Amino acid sequence: AQSDTDFRPNFHFTPESGWMNDPNGMFYHNGYFHLYFQHYPDDNVWGPMHWGHAISTDMITWKEQPIALYPDEKGYIFSGSAVVDHNNTSGFGEEGKTPIIAMFTYHDPKGEKDGEIDYQSQAIAYSLDEGKTFTKYEGNPVIENPEIRDFRDPKITRDEVHDQWIMVLSADDKTMFYTSQNLKDWELASEFGRGLGAHGGVWECPDFIQMNVKGTDEKKWVLIQSLNPGGFNGGSGTQYFVGDFDGKTFTLDESMKGVGEDHSYWIDFGKDNYAGVTWANIPKENGRTLFMGWMSNWLYAQEVPTETWRSAMTIARELRLEKENDAYTISSMPVKELKNYRGISYQEKDIKIEEETKLIDSSKIDLTSAEIRFKISDLQQSNYKFKLSNSQGDELIFGYNHPKKEFYLDRSGAGQTEFSEDFANKISVAPRISEDKELDGVIILDKTSIELFYDDGKTVITEIVFPNYPWEQLSIIPENGELSLDEIEAYQLKF
Ligand code: FRU
Repeated sequence: AQSDTDFRPNFHFTPESGWMNDPNGMFYHNGYFHLYFQHYPDDNVWGPMHWGHAISTDMITWKEQPIALYPDEKGYIFSGSAVVDHNNTSGFGEEGKTPIIAMFTYHDPKGEKDGEIDYQSQAIAYSLDEGKTFTKYEGNPVIENPEIRDFRDPKITRDEVHDQWIMVLSADDKTMFYTSQNLKDWELASEFGRGLGAHGGVWECPDFIQMNVKGTDEKKWVLIQSLNPGGFNGGSGTQYFVGDFDGKTFTLDESMKGVGEDHSYWIDFGKDNYAGVTWANIPKENGRTLFMGWMSNWLYAQEVPTETWRSAMTIARELRLEKENDAYTISSMPVKELKNYRGISYQEKDIKIEEETKLIDSSKIDLTSAEIRFKISDLQQSNYKFKLSNSQGDELIFGYNHPKKEFYLDRSGAGQTEFSEDFANKISVAPRISEDKELDGVIILDKTSIELFYDDGKTVITEIVFPNYPWEQLSIIPENGELSLDEIEAYQLKF
């Protein structure tokens, strides 16, 4: 059986040691993508939260840095964001240095223990060395708790349209919108979300961004809103809302009016993509919206079978907003930078599949570090499933049921599952959003994760797995007569 070092991903970010959850404070500046993260360096379970730090030039290969924020007498450092204050609106800039402003939630564990309800408040810190070190502002907290128990995870966005900073904050069952000129004084502008969307749990880690509608000049505002529990396949999940923003109030688009508990507006349908948000300060020229999530689920995150470290992030993704038949969909695909890591490849076309057929084995492509693309154009026959397997008898099954227009993923036989009842008790499902005749898929494989991007990322499923031995074979199994696989392309990813 494998454990710990065998389970450490080949290319997904993990902390060198200790516990990690949400990505925090992501921004781009001077050639570096910064990733901070909820971190407890002293144990492999959640504890007093710090902001760990890592940097990358391409969002794929990360270098961990010294811890950026430590808990103090005001509390633990919970999730939040960071922005580059180019015009020194905050006044923290000195000697022409551009300040980076981080905003986070102080979580006071004493207040929590004493049964108070106002133990979460918002605070800021600034960096004059491009995010290496931060100084906490002496005027903290900048937003006091208004008697709301779950009041956290500030995400700041520069609103160029209204020439202001906007900050979204999760407050129990809604998102609160604040505005500011100087990042210190914040004014409550509006609230959103009561009675809208999924509410199976507490809302956490929002993000609010303006996006271009693909192929048009139209712009819309998107609210990304994680919740736990209540995710599409149980536990932690991330939904989104599309609408307009007048500088104070977010109004849901007509096409989403009255959206209720059950909907298909999820950034990812799999169980392991939570609390994801976007990078701030991405250069306008390429206009990309870049996203990363925590690749785990609160249902079992603290029990997964690793010892010295726990949890990985998803692959970085580019989000796109698309409009079809008057409805908006967010799709996501791995960032194009991943292509730079492609090594040897293998390709086959027009394969007629009549029975279970081996497509790739580890002598051709190492299936613990691979990108696999496929196309199926004749969906009439397409009840198919893929199987990843190894000589220990572990099997990870994922497929598509065309009559139900449903994708699924079953990790119940894919190795270690006993550590938590909630890990593999149900087969995860996801609706096919696209109505295209042709189905295409991209499969990103690491040692302990699978990320499935169907239909150019309109349906995404991300899940972690703990096989007893590395994957050795990928096979396809037709379930409804002959299947024609138009194309399969596999790339070794090399790091
Ligand atoms: C989400 C979350 C946040 C909070 C952080 C604490 O996973 O619960 O709401 O800020 O984790 O680590």
